[in-house]
Amino acid sequence: MSIDKREVSAIEADPIADPGLPAHQPRPTDTDEYLEKRAERQVATLFGLSTLFVILFCVSYFVFKIGDDPTEILGFGASNVALGGCLGLALLCIGVGMIQWARKLMSDHEIVEFRHPGSSSDEDRTETVAILQTGLEESGIGRRPLIRNSLLGAMGALGIVAILPLRDLGPLPGDKLNHTVWKKGMRVVQDVGGNPIKPADMEIGQLVNGEPAVFFEEKDGEPIYDGVALQVQKAKAAVVIVKMQPDDITPWPGRENWGVDGILCYSKICTHVGCPISLWEQQTHHLLCPCHQSTFDLADNGKVIFGPAARHLPQLPLALDDEGYLIATSDFTEAVGPSFWERDTIKTGE
Ligand code: FES
Repeated sequence: MSIDKREVSAIEADPIADPGLPAHQPRPTDTDEYLEKRAERQVATLFGLSTLFVILFCVSYFVFKIGDDPTEILGFGASNVALGGCLGLALLCIGVGMIQWARKLMSDHEIVEFRHPGSSSDEDRTETVAILQTGLEESGIGRRPLIRNSLLGAMGALGIVAILPLRDLGPLPGDKLNHTVWKKGMRVVQDVGGNPIKPADMEIGQLVNGEPAVFFEEKDGEPIYDGVALQVQKAKAAVVIVKMQPDDITPWPGRENWGVDGILCYSKICTHVGCPISLWEQQTHHLLCPCHQSTFDLADNGKVIFGPAARHLPQLPLALDDEGYLIATSDFTEAVGPSFWERDTIKTGE
């Protein structure tokens, strides 16, 4: 039997014949009213459970302690576990409820849709709106107030999850950003080893990373700071101590006695966005921030000579105690670290 050319090209274009759609099979919920009602209640129960988990989320937010001595579950912060678990379960219940709704109750008639050109003509838009409306009608959301209302309740309750954490934006820090733990008479110690420093221990051109000897501070025989609180205070008060030729230093008026034998002390926290700095160029007295290359001249009051930082490095005034060790004569006289909205303008010559 011979096959002509037209038949060959038809077979090449469509080698497997389109079998068409199989006959529609109704689901149990399509034919049994009892099963339909039961599925409806299951979906509503899932949406109701979602609301319940949102309420538990809110309760957990207030009940579990966070901070220095947090409540724990299996070694994890109870607050995190409870908030994450409740939010996850609330979303899961809504998701599973929607899947069950679509599988068991929404219309499941098979349809064939041919691909249209990509442009959206007016006819297409009209058709789309009509399809959406048909979908809405077929979902039965108008006829099933139990599902509709429980879903609206669950979605509304989810909104609380977004609103409640706004409470964590407060309270405002007040005066806290303007102070560190440095105070008159507190020793400057090396950040590794915690050894106090004598001027003779340093050579010209040397830079040492330092911190306050705050771990000696006690009240009623107990340390004022320990653990995480101690580390936080030390990090905020971190300093660099540098020794230069005294003749190279040009202090602003009022800062003439802030150094000891050419030793000056500055905050280690960049005034741009707060990176720790200690890239030191002995010859030029420049301190370079590795994050965005702000450069500060430590012989000239920590002045910015390059880069995005808008403020000089805060300087800590130094003196010697009775045993000849370096001590601070006060806290910093201005806020350390990056700029913030209410930060005062500086109190000295810049
Ligand atoms: S944090 Fe130092 S330059 Fe940006």
